[in-house]
Amino acid sequence: MNNRKKTDILIIGAGLSGLVTGLILSKKYKVTLITKQNLDKCSTAWAQGGIAAALSSSDNFEKHIEDTIKNGHGLVDEDVSRLIIQEAPNCIRWLEENGIVFSRHGDEIDLGLEGGHSERRIAHIRDETGKIIHKKLSHIVKLNNNIEIIENSMAIDLIIDINQKVKTCLGAYVFDCNNKSVTTISAKNIIISTGGASKVYQYTSNPNTSTGDGIAMAWRAGCTIANMEFVQFHPTCIYHPLAKSFLISEALRGEGGKLLSPSSARFMKKYDERQELASRDIVARAIDYEMKKYGYTNVLLDISHKSASFIKRRFPLIYKKCNELGIDITKEAIPVVPASHYTCGGVQAKLNGQTEINNLYVIGEAAHTGFHGANRLASNSLLECLVMSKMCSESICNISDKKSDNNSLRLWNDSYVTDSKENIMISHNWDELRKIMWNYVGIVRSDKRLTSAKIRLKIIEDEVNDYYHHHKIDKDLLELRNIIEISSLIIDSALSRKESRGLHYSIDYPLTKTEYKKNTLIHGKRGDYFMKLVHSKV
Ligand code: SIN
Repeated sequence: MNNRKKTDILIIGAGLSGLVTGLILSKKYKVTLITKQNLDKCSTAWAQGGIAAALSSSDNFEKHIEDTIKNGHGLVDEDVSRLIIQEAPNCIRWLEENGIVFSRHGDEIDLGLEGGHSERRIAHIRDETGKIIHKKLSHIVKLNNNIEIIENSMAIDLIIDINQKVKTCLGAYVFDCNNKSVTTISAKNIIISTGGASKVYQYTSNPNTSTGDGIAMAWRAGCTIANMEFVQFHPTCIYHPLAKSFLISEALRGEGGKLLSPSSARFMKKYDERQELASRDIVARAIDYEMKKYGYTNVLLDISHKSASFIKRRFPLIYKKCNELGIDITKEAIPVVPASHYTCGGVQAKLNGQTEINNLYVIGEAAHTGFHGANRLASNSLLECLVMSKMCSESICNISDKKSDNNSLRLWNDSYVTDSKENIMISHNWDELRKIMWNYVGIVRSDKRLTSAKIRLKIIEDEVNDYYHHHKIDKDLLELRNIIEISSLIIDSALSRKESRGLHYSIDYPLTKTEYKKNTLIHGKRGDYFMKLVHSKV
C-alpha cells in the first residue's frame, strides 16, 4: 500500500551530516530523518582517524590551508578551504559541548598525525572517533521529539517541480525496505546526506551503505556532478579472507607504522621522501605498483616496534579486530592492500549545501564544494561534514517559511510492474560491475581499460533499466541502479581528463597539464525525468 507523508525538513541519510543538521534544525522545524539500515550503519561510524583542526601552539590555519591545497593538486578552492578550516576549532568545541570526549594528552586534546599533514592536528578518540561521535549524537537525536527517525528506508528519487522558473524539489519517494511500500514524502526543504560511493568498487573500506544514492538521485533530478574521477583509495585495508572492508587507520603510520614488502623490505623511499606519510594518492599508487610488479597479493604494515601498551591504548579497535583474526599487532605485521575509501567528487553545492535546485541541499561526502580538490587530505572530511551541516541549518533557518503544496504530489505508481521470479540478474550485475570498476577504473587507469569498462557498463545498464521498468523494486535493485549511474559518472569523468592529477592517474597521460587545472562537470540528466519517477511502463 503506497501512502503519503508531510514534513518540514526531510533528511536523507543519518551519518554525521544528517545527525548534526537534524539536531540544529529540530530547534525550529519538524524533521524526518530516513536511513537505509539501522541508525548505526553509516560511514561515519567506521571513521577511525579523526577531525583535522589547527589546535597546537606550533600550528595555525594557514598551515592547514596550505596542506589542504598542496594535497588537492591545484583543484582546491582556497576560499572554501579557508572558511572550513577556520571553523574547525568551533566544530571541536560544539562536539565537546555535546558530550564528546576526545583523547587527551594531559590537559590538551591529543593530536594525531596523518599523511600529507605538516603538523599533528588530528583530534581523535583513540581509533574509534567516528563510532563514538555517531553513537553519542544518535542517542541525542533519538531523545529529540522534533525528529522522527525512519530506519530501513531508502529514497528512490527526488520529486521535482520542473514548471517553475528554477526547478524546485518538493520531496522524495521513499521505499520501506521491510514492508516494500513506497511513501511520497513532501517537505519544504530536502537535505541529502547519503555519503559517498566507494561500494562501486570490489574492495572498499566502506560499509555496504556507500552506494552513492544521493549523488545518483541528484543527478537524475538535474544537478551538476563534479570531479567524480577523483576516487580516493585508502592505502591500507586489512587483507584477510575473514575480514571484509576493515580499515587500518593512517594514524598507525602517523605513529611510526612502516610499510614492508612480504620479505620485510621497506619500499616507500623509492616513491616519496616523506615515505609512509606521503599523501594518500602516492602511498596507494606505490603499493599498487609493488603488488603488480612483483606479484604480491598484499604488502605489510608493521607497528610492532612500539610498546604493546601504547599500541593497545592508541589503537584498541585495530588491535582487537586483528587479534580476532589471529594477528597480534604488538608482535607481527598486518597484511594490507589498498581499497576504495572516499568520493572526492559529488553534487556541485555551495558550502551551505545549496544546489542548483531550489530547496534541495546536499552536504557531506555526497557534495562537491571544492574543499578536497583532486585528493582529500586525511581527516578533512568529518570537518567538512560539520561545517556544512552548521551552514546548511543556518541558511534554512534564515529563509522565510514557505508553504509546500503537498497534496498535489503524485503517489508512486507500481500497478504496471510484476514481482520478479528470480534475482540472479541483480546479484550477477552487482558483482560484475564492482569487478569491472576495480580492474578497469582503479588506482591506475588507461583509455583502453576505461573504454572497455564503458562498453561493458552499457550492457549492464540496459539490462538493469529494462528489469527496473518491469519489476517491483527492492533495495538491491535500487542500489544497483545507483551504482551503475555512479560508475558511469566516474568513467566519463576519467575519460575526459587527459592528464594525471592527484587521485586520477593515467598511463596514457602521466603528466599534469595546465589546461586541465579545472573541475570536471557533468550536467544533470533531464528529459524523461518525470517518466522515470513513475515506476511503470507508461
Ligand atoms: C584513517 O583513519 O586512515 C581514515 C581517515 C580519513 O579517511 O580521513
